[in-house]
Amino acid sequence: MSNWQHGFYKLSTEERRARLSAARHLSTADQQLLSDGSSTLGNQLVENYLTDYRLPEGVGLNLLVNGQEYQVPMAVEEPSVIAAASNGAQRVARSGGFQAARQERALVGQVVLVPADGETDSELAWLRDHRDDLLRVANEAHPSMKRRGGGAKDVRFRTPGHFISVDLSIDVCQAMGANSVNTMAEAVGHWLTDHGFNVLTAILSNYATESLQTVECRVDFVNLATAKMAGEKVARRMAQLSDLAQVDPYRAATHNKGIMNGIDAVMVASGNDWRAIEAGAHAYAVKDGQYRGLSTWQIDGDQLIGRLTLPLPVGVVGGSIGLNPLTKANYRISGIETAEELAAVTASVGLAQNLAAVRALASSGIQAGHMKLQYRSLAVSVGATADEVPQVTKKLAKLDHVDRSVAKQVLSEIRKD
Ligand code: MEV
Repeated sequence: MSNWQHGFYKLSTEERRARLSAARHLSTADQQLLSDGSSTLGNQLVENYLTDYRLPEGVGLNLLVNGQEYQVPMAVEEPSVIAAASNGAQRVARSGGFQAARQERALVGQVVLVPADGETDSELAWLRDHRDDLLRVANEAHPSMKRRGGGAKDVRFRTPGHFISVDLSIDVCQAMGANSVNTMAEAVGHWLTDHGFNVLTAILSNYATESLQTVECRVDFVNLATAKMAGEKVARRMAQLSDLAQVDPYRAATHNKGIMNGIDAVMVASGNDWRAIEAGAHAYAVKDGQYRGLSTWQIDGDQLIGRLTLPLPVGVVGGSIGLNPLTKANYRISGIETAEELAAVTASVGLAQNLAAVRALASSGIQAGHMKLQYRSLAVSVGATADEVPQVTKKLAKLDHVDRSVAKQVLSEIRKD
């Protein structure tokens, strides 16, 4: 290992940047970028901090969930995501909006044991007899959670392979709760070790099957029509695409990626742990042994019915939510106050996003809509200024073939003019 890395975490942010810049021969411009983006908060949050890596934030519009209108901050770099979510949401709003079930919320804290040879049944019997002790130990490790009405509520036992998993079902109230669950699971792990068990690990499970969120919408065919295709035809092709995502993992992964485009963007802007949400969503997508689309689209009369269920163990407090002023402002923008509300709105954004993508795939294809937005990024990437971007974008939209060299050429023509 290079010497300059030694003790890096102990340095001030400025010293770290200077040391890294010298080692990696960074230009003055790069050094300036790092220092311009630096914040006191960032340095408090992560080790080896250099700067804040920023994402564009926009607002998803037209979202009608359980009769209430929402404007939802979304942080994402992909150009088409916010436009597509707003477009999908508007089509659903015109047909009555999203109906989201009220979420039952609990997290699972897993304490995994390696039973002694031939002792699985007797160890399970002991654990079942000590069910109340397991809950007591978990709750004593986090008394404030219990005082707030939450805490460990249930315990179940599973035997994956040759292991025993003691699954604590923990109500974390309005928080994301990962740290609390880990504290409680570890306390139970220590207690079981003291009682002679071979404890392998104690940790939150991100397969959050006790925080499932379901959302539905019914979209009138007329609201799916494109300039070139009748709404009914679009709807029938969307239903076929939905069937495909149920039987073909290659398509299912992309179908779900589209859903997560919206969900992740809301998770980032609301200060939630989007990696946890991603992990849970994909585990849920393969719950019956085959990886499938998380949402389905089916014809019913002259409507297309969309349904989405996935684990959404979100929080409105905890983690970095209270620390980042922009995250707090985002809650004031959306007006979301509870974790249940955030889960309902997030799932609706996911289904709106999926509607827009699948509708495009079923009709004109994804590139037609995407490319107009991608052209903006392409214009910026070839050096167009803010004034030039709209001109370059407009010209690119008229061409059959567009790539970086074409964009460069268009920009130079504009400059000559
Ligand atoms: C692109 O980010 C997402 C899509 O590929 C989703 C889909 O295919 O359903 C458009």
